Amino acid sequence: MSLAVVYSRAQVGIAAPLVSCEVHLSGGLPGTSIVGLPETTVKEARDRVRAAILNAQLEYPQRRVTVNLAPADLPKDGGRFDLPIALGVLAANGRVPRDALDGCEFIGELALSGELRGVHGVLPAVLQATRRGRRVIVPRDNAREAALVEDADVRVADSLLEVCAHLAGRIDLPRAEGGGIDDGRASPLPCLSDVRGQPHARRALEVAAAGAHNLLLVGPPGTGKTMLASRLPGILPPLDEHEALELAAVRSVAGHDTDVANWKQRAFRAPHHTASAAALVGGGTLPRPGEVSLAHHGVLFLDEIVEFDRHVLEVLREPLESGRIAISRAARQAEFPARFQLVAAMNPCPCGYAGDPSGRCRCTPDVVARYRARLSGPLLDRIDLKLEMPRVAHAELRDGVVGEDSGTVRARVVAARLRQLQRAGKPNAWLGNREVERDCALDARQHALLDRAVDRLGLSARAYHRVLRVARTLADLAGSGRIEEVHLAEAIQYRRFGG
Ligand SMILES: Nc1ncnc2c1ncn2[C@@H]1O[C@H](COP(=O)(O)OP(=O)(O)OP(=O)(O)O)[C@@H](O)[C@H]1O
Ligand SMILES: [Mg+2]
Repeated sequence: MSLAVVYSRAQVGIAAPLVSCEVHLSGGLPGTSIVGLPETTVKEARDRVRAAILNAQLEYPQRRVTVNLAPADLPKDGGRFDLPIALGVLAANGRVPRDALDGCEFIGELALSGELRGVHGVLPAVLQATRRGRRVIVPRDNAREAALVEDADVRVADSLLEVCAHLAGRIDLPRAEGGGIDDGRASPLPCLSDVRGQPHARRALEVAAAGAHNLLLVGPPGTGKTMLASRLPGILPPLDEHEALELAAVRSVAGHDTDVANWKQRAFRAPHHTASAAALVGGGTLPRPGEVSLAHHGVLFLDEIVEFDRHVLEVLREPLESGRIAISRAARQAEFPARFQLVAAMNPCPCGYAGDPSGRCRCTPDVVARYRARLSGPLLDRIDLKLEMPRVAHAELRDGVVGEDSGTVRARVVAARLRQLQRAGKPNAWLGNREVERDCALDARQHALLDRAVDRLGLSARAYHRVLRVARTLADLAGSGRIEEVHLAEAIQYRRFGG
């Protein structure tokens, strides 16, 4: 029989559906065709595979070669199917034992010389294959990310010849090394003890960390907004295994290197305000994840947020609400996870000094209002914590009290987060309205307080629920089972800027 089947995996979002690569040899004019609706890049695979087989001093069949990548309706692109196609051709021709292919999956691009090259998105493929109990053979370039998957049987190869020798039982391919995974080697993050003064902003940052709330920092230049925001990852709880793998899968698909030593650290993504909508949410003919997905389970920092294009900010609304982003380009659909925590920073007015005691701001109220209106209401609504930061006097910058370090704050954050996970299985910022009603009960006095605030500040219904979520986080930080009046009052404080 001159039919061989080799298994591999495609990439759709961060999923890795199985693809079987069927190769059939038949009589007729020698030539190779690839079917299964592949993209042009897969057609290029035909030439690469042929050259690689010949350059490896192996025999390319002088017959009609038909390659079918099934299922046909999956998008398939990139060189990832080169290796399985080549092995299929060799197996169909009797040059590789067919039964050795059982229980294995293969991914890798071939150079014309027959060397193996790394591809994007190997991690999701290894995860899926491992769930199926299959061994995966990957190019050396992808060994580190593949090794992140626990209990995986991943073998690393440098060339087509090596893979053939392995399948023939002549050599044993080395396992992908997992030795690099060690949280102890994680590089240190910037520490909160560098920040002088700003007790309110420090407090808001801790609250944001504890409940995964979105945060807006408003203040004149040089008050430490950027400095503070970059210290958020250092006080967040480390990623758990599942979260870390999800983020690593996004990074793998985006073609970013796997930072094995730091893989449990939360991401901190700070795209520039000139970033396009596609860079932010993802895109491309083969959809790739954007900044919102690279910030999955971590922090998306938008510095000078009003300088971002309005349209670009609008696209953030979907992921802010659902934690996911759907991208459709032409016939292609992909969905990526995007459960990030937004931290935004802005000046209070175009010159930056509105409200500054120096009185140097000359912006008219009209100009200030228009400047702030660049942040749309719906986006502002989704930011739980808003804080105006005053300038810190030079003397205080020099001699001011040095606050707690990140480790101390993080311990409180972790404890508060644990309460939330035990109660609702998620951080407070993600509670649905039903869950808010269940977990954030108020007594009559507290209701009256909140009603007054809603009237006075003109809060929307969404903002109302967000106040309750923040109050819940403040209670969790205080170790309190119930929301107390102080928690509610503090939560209301954080909504004063622009609704
Ligand atoms: N509270 C602070 N404690 C210690 N250093 C500070 C503080 N605030 C500002 N600095 C110093 O000032 C520098 C500028 O701070 P940062 O860039 O965070 O300000 P910013 O509010 O983001 O300003 P801009 O509006 O211009 O972006 C920091 O690198 C830091 O050295
Ligand atoms: Mg800044």
